[in-house]
Amino acid sequence: MTRGTVLLTGGAGYIGSHTAVELLGAGWDVVVVDDFSNSSPVALERVAQVATGPSAGHLRWHRLDIADTAGLTSVLADEAVDAVVHFAGLKAVGESVAQPLRYYTVNVAGSASLLRAMDATGVRRLVFSSSCTVYGDPERVPIDETAARGASNPYGRTKLVVEDMLMDLAAADDGWQLLALRYFNPVGAHASGRLGEDPEGIPNNLMPYIMQVAAGRHPFVRVFGDDYPTPDGTGIRDYIHVVDLALGHVAALESSDDLPGFTAVNLGTGRGSSVLEVIAAASRAVGRDVPYQVVERRPGDVAATWAEPALAEKLLGWRATRTLDEMAADHWRWQSRNPQGYAGEGAGPPTPPA
Ligand code: UFG
Repeated sequence: MTRGTVLLTGGAGYIGSHTAVELLGAGWDVVVVDDFSNSSPVALERVAQVATGPSAGHLRWHRLDIADTAGLTSVLADEAVDAVVHFAGLKAVGESVAQPLRYYTVNVAGSASLLRAMDATGVRRLVFSSSCTVYGDPERVPIDETAARGASNPYGRTKLVVEDMLMDLAAADDGWQLLALRYFNPVGAHASGRLGEDPEGIPNNLMPYIMQVAAGRHPFVRVFGDDYPTPDGTGIRDYIHVVDLALGHVAALESSDDLPGFTAVNLGTGRGSSVLEVIAAASRAVGRDVPYQVVERRPGDVAATWAEPALAEKLLGWRATRTLDEMAADHWRWQSRNPQGYAGEGAGPPTPPA
C-alpha cells in the first residue's frame, strides 16, 4: 500500500532527483517527466538504485516536454497521479537576461501547460519550485513570507508570474491545493555519493565552483567582493542541504491536504554563511585549503539574505538539520567520485524499469 502517486516534472534534475529518492523512501510511487535538456537519465537509474527499503515506492519515467499539454494529460490520467511537484524550468539568471523569451516560454507557458493538464484530469494538488529570488533585494533579514516580493531579472520575474498564476487559480476555484516552496541556496549531494548537481559548463554558483577548484579544474575561487556590510565583508546566503530540501517536499505533500488554496513557504535553514565560511567548510571537507582571490563585486548581488524558516516548521512540520560541514562533505564526495558528473556513465537512452 503506497501513499499515492506523485508526478515530478524535471525529476531528473538536481533537486528533483534528490526529492524522488526521499519520496520513494517515504512510500510514494514516483512518476518522472523530464525532457533531459539539462539533466541525465543516468540520474534516474541511480535514484532507483539508491532508493531502497521495505516500503519504498516504484519509479517510472517518461521523456516529455512540459509544453506538451496533451502528453502530460495522458501521463496524469494513465498513471493515476494524485499530486504534482513541478521542478522543470530554466534557472540561470545571466542567461535569462540574454534570452528572456526562452525563460517566459519554458517557465511561465510551461507551468500554464502543466496546470491545464492538471485541470483537465482533476489533479488539484501542486507543489511548485519557487525561489527566494522572489524577494528581490530583501527589505529585511531574516526574510519571512510576508516580505514584499520583487525581482531584478527575467528569471526571477518568471517565478513571480507563476506564483501569481497559482494565486489567481486558487482565488477562482477553492478545489486547488497549491504550495510554492521558496528555496534559499541548495547545495550538497546525496550521502551515497551517487547523486549530485551536474552543472553544464562552468558553474555560476559558489559551492559547485569551489568543488571544481578543489578538483583542479580552475586555479582559484573568485570571491565577488569583500567590502559588503557583513562581518567578514563577503556575501551571506542561507545554504541548505539538498536532502533537507528534498525532505521539505515530502513534508509539503503530506501536509497539503490541510492547506487549501495558495500557500508560500520558505525552505531555508535560518542561518546565513559568508563566502569565506563556505570556502573554509569546503577546505575542511577536501582536507586542504581551497585557494581563493578577492575580485570585484558581481553585479546584481545583494549583501545578505537568509530565511525565517518558522512557517515551514509550523505548517509542514519540517526543518533543516544538516550543517554547512555536511553540505560541503557530501558535495565533495559527489564531485570527487563523479568528476564528469553523469556523463562518465551510460551515454545511451534509458531503459525504464519494469
Ligand atoms: N560567489 C562568489 N564567487 C563565485 C560564485 C558566487 O563569491 O564564484 C558569491 C556570490 O557573490 C554570493 C554567494 O557567493 O555572495 C552565493 O552565490 P551563488 O551564485 O551561489 O548564489 P546566489 O545567491 O547569487 O543565487 C541564488 C540562486 C539563483 C537565485 C538567486 C537569488 O542560484 O537562482 O539565489 O535568489 F536567483
